[in-house]
Amino acid sequence: DGLYTAPTDEALRSDIEPVVRLVEEAAQGLLRQPAQASPKFFYDVLGSRLFDAITELEAYYPTRTEALVFDTQGAAMAEAVRACLGRPPVLVELGAGNCSKASRLFALLQARAYVAVDISVEFLRQSLLNLQLQHPEMDLAGVGLDFSASLDLPADLPVLDSGPRLLFYPGSSIGNFAPDEALRLLRDMHQLAAGGALLIGVDLIKSSALLEAAYDDELGVTAAFNLNLLLHLNRVLGSDFRPADWRHVACFNAVESRIEMHLEARRALVVSWPGGQRRFSAGERLHTENSYKWTPAGFESLLQRAGFGSVQTWCDPKGWFAVCLASG
Ligand code: AVJ
Repeated sequence: DGLYTAPTDEALRSDIEPVVRLVEEAAQGLLRQPAQASPKFFYDVLGSRLFDAITELEAYYPTRTEALVFDTQGAAMAEAVRACLGRPPVLVELGAGNCSKASRLFALLQARAYVAVDISVEFLRQSLLNLQLQHPEMDLAGVGLDFSASLDLPADLPVLDSGPRLLFYPGSSIGNFAPDEALRLLRDMHQLAAGGALLIGVDLIKSSALLEAAYDDELGVTAAFNLNLLLHLNRVLGSDFRPADWRHVACFNAVESRIEMHLEARRALVVSWPGGQRRFSAGERLHTENSYKWTPAGFESLLQRAGFGSVQTWCDPKGWFAVCLASG
């Protein structure tokens, strides 16, 4: 008892083939008009750490506001989860990162096992090793997966079937997807939940001043996070981006209801990689992220269109952030 059982490399799956697809995706995005890079390219080890730093910033309200919703209304949520599922769930976290959000809920939700899914495999491996030390009794597994491409988890992961599934997608990462893509992803989650439930965080529409401050902080942490994508692309693609040639830009697009992050070329330049190149004129932008903001009603109806028959929502007092429990 109390034996330390680390998740072995076997328990942490990742494939080579998706990496090849990732390289192609990076090159294709750079050749688009305007150029774009998927926000998943933020999350190498340094990028994941920079995101952790962002969540400590005063201006970046989503993480602490979501935490406030869990702290103040977690008991009601846990009660609703029990009413939905009946038995202690397997907690399946999508985009688990440092795994700290889920691990804070282990006791509250009476989770009997935890499956962490993230595209950033190395970072996930480190996070799970730490987590196992703190929770020697829990059954932990990691899956290295770009679930935006497909939400197929390995079929031979026995821990997935040790109870009803509670999918957990906190932090408003769903905001990285345009409404039609978000709908497709939520349909996949409805399938994966297999009669269980989905607990999901979503950032809400607010003044553009508050939104833009959250994505362009005074310390330049978000700028570093955005610029680090270029260094990650250099490693993935073999490109020759120089971060000093680029400027961080964040703006709220009210028509599309999304924060946009871009990198803007400070001068005319050419970026080259094996098999391709792209010219940028001074002021031309590389679009790196959309972060969509929702109304509670709009997001609830999205969950319903994705197949969930019942949705309950909890918000902070200011109405800045919502957590939804979708089931059925
Ligand atoms: C991790 C996608 C929720 O959109 O707020 C933070 C990422 N980008 N600062 C967000 C992010 C810039 C974050 N998500």
